[in-house]
Amino acid sequence: MYPLRRNRRLRQNQAIRSLVRETIISPNDFLVPLFIVEGTGIKEEIASMPNYYRYSLDLLKAEVKELWSLGLKSVLLFVKVPDNLKDNNGTEALNKDGLMQRAIKTVKDTCPEMLVMTDVAMDPYSNYGHDGIVSNGSIVNDDTNAILAEMSLSHANAGADFVAPSDMMDGRIFEIRSLLEDEGFHDTGIMSYSAKYASAFYGPFRDALDSAPVAKQNVPKDKQTYQMDPANREEAIKETLMDVEEGADIVMVKPGLCYLDIVRDIREAVHVPVAVYQVSGEYAMLKAAAEKGWLDHDAVMMEQITAIKRAGATIIASYFAKDVVKLIS
Ligand code: PBG
Repeated sequence: MYPLRRNRRLRQNQAIRSLVRETIISPNDFLVPLFIVEGTGIKEEIASMPNYYRYSLDLLKAEVKELWSLGLKSVLLFVKVPDNLKDNNGTEALNKDGLMQRAIKTVKDTCPEMLVMTDVAMDPYSNYGHDGIVSNGSIVNDDTNAILAEMSLSHANAGADFVAPSDMMDGRIFEIRSLLEDEGFHDTGIMSYSAKYASAFYGPFRDALDSAPVAKQNVPKDKQTYQMDPANREEAIKETLMDVEEGADIVMVKPGLCYLDIVRDIREAVHVPVAVYQVSGEYAMLKAAAEKGWLDHDAVMMEQITAIKRAGATIIASYFAKDVVKLIS
């Protein structure tokens, strides 16, 4: 009687494979990161991120319209801050006419229904390239939180739908939530980078924003005292549960591919949406291998995105979002 079961019956052709497929990718899965610079007429390619660009506000409009027309309805904004505006307290981050604040308004004016999330962190504004105030060779936690809360309020005032703190200070979600509530921003959401690892995959992003920690005496050379140790798994669950308790509406695991075990653990531990950030280094690796002809770009891209969703991602922040949507449409 052998075999009663033949697994290949469900793989015989395209039709049956589509019928039993467990993970389907659609434009609704994506959050699109956007890099913004001062100036006009600027669309400059980021050297270590082929086919990814920094936009000035005027050209951002066309990009946002294109995203919307592709069915991409959520963006995550990052700004590249001129050096002369950087200091140790991220003062420029609170400027109500700052680049981020104007970028939020630009997106909302161009496409009112586009969901706008904003990066909340000091590093693009820090003359030391850190996500917090540097003092005596370390990163100060609580005073940084006060700034992050003010920054979040400023973004909310400018029209952000969600703020996305990416700094990894302790207790910042509670500080941010409290201030937003006090100021009447009950509907402004928080997407917390809750399990963010001290990863070497962020290199190209730091090129994009010129935000790498600076080599200087008494300035930590990396972010290991606040971002998580890649060796840790239990800690990711602890961090994430705390962020949910403090008021995070959405949690995040970052980077993506090397951390899919964490994504699955967290998916099972929380009852809020889980975002996964497929970061700049992951993007750069595939672009480089494809340029050399060593990997099939589109096939590997789809396999990676599918793996992230299969692992448990509700939301995927990815530089491939446009490529994927164009491919599947
Ligand atoms: C900084 C921040 C980083 C990224 C998002 N926000 C870099 C860092 O922590 O140094 C990385 C994103 C990417 O690599 O694509 N607050």
